[in-house]
Amino acid sequence: MVENQSYPLKILNINPEPIGIFTLPVEKHLNYKKSAQLIERQAPKELRQQFPTEKYTTHICNSYNQNIFNQFQTLLNLKKDLKLMILTYIKTIGHICEDIVISDAWLNNSSKNSTLAYHYHGNSYISGNYFINFNHEIHTQLNFLNDRVLIYNSPNITTPKNPDVNNLYNSKSITINAKEGQVFLWRSHNSHGYEIPNKGDERLTLSFNSMPKNCIDKDKRYSFSVVD
Ligand SMILES: [Fe+2]
Repeated sequence: MVENQSYPLKILNINPEPIGIFTLPVEKHLNYKKSAQLIERQAPKELRQQFPTEKYTTHICNSYNQNIFNQFQTLLNLKKDLKLMILTYIKTIGHICEDIVISDAWLNNSSKNSTLAYHYHGNSYISGNYFINFNHEIHTQLNFLNDRVLIYNSPNITTPKNPDVNNLYNSKSITINAKEGQVFLWRSHNSHGYEIPNKGDERLTLSFNSMPKNCIDKDKRYSFSVVD
């Protein structure tokens, strides 16, 4: 029998996951948007991909041997900005990294009804998404899977979720509300996607993966370098 008496409760959040959010200055963003939309219209067939799991999305340069920044010089300033953001993010979360290589970068153009199955990017340290053409009223927000809810070491004990309560401890995924012109960064093992179908066309984003140019272990004994 639980007595009808309440005690103050303080909940501490341990093991938080850092999602970095940068906002580009409007004019700079609009320039990049113009370049990206032109690329989206003019990219040749051999740089375009469509995958069976994403029927309503076209990708540009989403193949292991392609990188949007190598194919289109008009985005080189964006590449510089993203590198700076990634280095700032790594420094802010308390790690040392002198230089970064954007190892993969590609465009995603998603139409009405598109969804994105939850996935994470292998062979990458920091991943990110730049919201190039994004209207939150018709384009679905990006979600991150809540690994504290979904990943168990069995056996496990569960209790039903209270449908009236949605919080960091009981939700399957966490939505970060993006605005056009923003860049999200996260550690690449985080699963992300969206299940609610896009309500409109031309949800245009640029995704990327990055690696430290020199990967060195904490004791500075073992290392390898990544070719740009
Ligand atoms: Fe992704």
